[in-house]
Amino acid sequence: MNQLTIAIAKGRLQPAALDLLKEIGIVLAEASKTSRRLSIEDQSGEYRFLFVKPSDVTVYVEHGVADCGIVGRDVLLESTPDVLQPLDLPIGRCRMVVAALADAPPNGHGMLRVATKFPLIATRHFGKRGQPVEIIQLSGSVELAPVLGLADCIVDLVETGRTLRENGLVVSEEIFSSTARLIVNRASYQLKANSMMKLINSLKSAAREGGKADD
Ligand code: PRP
Repeated sequence: MNQLTIAIAKGRLQPAALDLLKEIGIVLAEASKTSRRLSIEDQSGEYRFLFVKPSDVTVYVEHGVADCGIVGRDVLLESTPDVLQPLDLPIGRCRMVVAALADAPPNGHGMLRVATKFPLIATRHFGKRGQPVEIIQLSGSVELAPVLGLADCIVDLVETGRTLRENGLVVSEEIFSSTARLIVNRASYQLKANSMMKLINSLKSAAREGGKADD
């Protein structure tokens, strides 16, 4: 069997991804979970993990430095990488929404100012209905933008809804729902077919048993 390198999105998705991998028998040494090392092997040596920023998972997989990756559908829709997407995973469930201040006055100046970490998704969403928008790209804490008058609304991810609530924002539209996906480098899919099918089939069974993957 060939060793597979798997890029994992750091942050919220990481513990759920590691739990899912544990369910299919891929176990990391306890010490490695608390370490700051960004590249580690599992106990069997069959897998190597790279822990990278969510938006970089697609870069590593597209370039073949990682054979596959676990990343949110939101990231895939924003960066449209040339990779295979064989599997939805029952983790990282969230929604991409438009949200605004609960008591926001109607937008009177025509051009809607939209703050977001997802400029492509936001542009596409408002473009479909011919709504002129000014996209204000931020890297985080997007919910602050309407509160401080930087934007009329935001396009952002909602998981528990707590960040919206605590900043006085409400959802006005849902754009799509998202879960994590397994993505695979096109060449690795052919060159490491046996190892890849073993991983995909195990994850498929775990997802089926979880019974939650649906979009
Ligand atoms: C994400 C997202 C929201 C928040 C939603 O941000 O952009 O801000 O989580 O989660 P909730 O519905 O459970 O409150 P993240 O925590 O990744 O931080 P960031 O704003 O710095 O990007």
